[in-house]
Amino acid sequence: MHFYPRGNVFYRRLTKPFPRIVLGEGCWLEDADGKRYLDACGGAFVACLGHGNTEIAAAMAEQAGRIAYVNGTAFTTDPVEQLAGELAKTLPGDLDHLYFLSSGSEAVEAALKLARQYWAECGLPAKRKILALSAAYHGNTLLALSASAREHYKTYVRDWMVDVIRVPVPCFRCACRGDDPTCATCTGNALEAAIERAGPDTVAAFIAEPVGGSSTGAAVPRAEYFRTVREICDRHQVLFIADEVLCGAGRTGTWWAIEPFGVAPDLMTVGKGIAAGYAPLSAVAAPRRIIDVLAQGAGSLFHAQTFSFHPVACAAGLATVRTLRAHGLVQRCAELGAAFHRKLAGLAALPNVGAVRGRGLLAGIEFVEDTKLGTPLPRALRFAETFTEQALAVGLVVWPNVGHVDGTQGDLVMLAPPFIVTEVELDEIVSRFATALDWTLAAVSAGVR
Ligand SMILES: Cc1ncc(COP(=O)(O)O)c(C=O)c1O
Repeated sequence: MHFYPRGNVFYRRLTKPFPRIVLGEGCWLEDADGKRYLDACGGAFVACLGHGNTEIAAAMAEQAGRIAYVNGTAFTTDPVEQLAGELAKTLPGDLDHLYFLSSGSEAVEAALKLARQYWAECGLPAKRKILALSAAYHGNTLLALSASAREHYKTYVRDWMVDVIRVPVPCFRCACRGDDPTCATCTGNALEAAIERAGPDTVAAFIAEPVGGSSTGAAVPRAEYFRTVREICDRHQVLFIADEVLCGAGRTGTWWAIEPFGVAPDLMTVGKGIAAGYAPLSAVAAPRRIIDVLAQGAGSLFHAQTFSFHPVACAAGLATVRTLRAHGLVQRCAELGAAFHRKLAGLAALPNVGAVRGRGLLAGIEFVEDTKLGTPLPRALRFAETFTEQALAVGLVVWPNVGHVDGTQGDLVMLAPPFIVTEVELDEIVSRFATALDWTLAAVSAGVR
């Protein structure tokens, strides 16, 4: 077995060669051999403005030429303050203060630590437990990974994890199949039972994605779900953290995926699309009422990182948010999203497609063995991985996920094209998807893994 690439880099996947990408333009990537790929997932749900946007590049260059880096514990800069101001205008409820970091995992770590520090500063230090959904991904650093239900990611570090209490995930492979209006999982009432079992005096926070990311293939909870969550969290003094790292920043057709649920969280984590991939940028959004408690207590948040509040990353974020607004791209995402889901609906009739779901320009397509029963495919087939490779061969970039059924079984792929995608490109995504599925079925029956 070869170790790729043969230079001085080691990537996460060590035994597969990667195409060498030399150019990006709109929704397209081009490799060193001139092969073009339709980027149907913006990398990892990131490139919402597409590739090669010269306005964002210019804003970053301008900021780098002026001042590229100062430490966020000693100085402030214009792009940091301006981006916070722009994002605050879009955020729900009373979320109006932002703490900038680089990755989604860092934002989740910071939000969970902030929740615990908040309760300690409130004189309630016993409130330290975290609740999260039974199918969830919140990042790969140790606390964020603890909150994630990704068993295979924990293989070598399980004894380093902290305990996180699982709440059944709504509207995703639930036994009620969405039909039971009283289902505790899908209405949100299961959260109350979990908090009561844990002891409300010991629970700090419940973290959940308003629209599921790769863990549930873009499952959308019922309309009342987060209203119930909000009421339960208020009743038991539990902070509700909405993780919008993947589903936020316009992706689902509203600035924030929580908006259609008509409630606001206490804390929100954002990342991925907020700088459109031009710089690594994430943030924790918090309201004054929470920050004030820390200000009057310890006087600082007990979390710091070298690259927090990075001026060039924030300049990229500022240019991204302004571009989204100037070109009405969140609205476009809603409109095109409706067309996208109409086009994708046809895929449901293809072999082994168990579900097609999502909102806006976020979609998940689940592969199953038996489409009536939803039985997962044998994991040994490596269906999602094979599909992703076949898709790459037909020039389509998708995002795979495995293990969502029970931690091991389950195959799905996600689509999240840039907001500038055209209807013609959406048709091309659907057509290449169908070809990739044909090729996958052929590869699987030929025993190719
Ligand atoms: C919902 C959610 N939260 C957090 C993260 C972690 O973000 P990052 O990979 O930037 O650390 C991810 C990454 O996919 C995510 O989907």
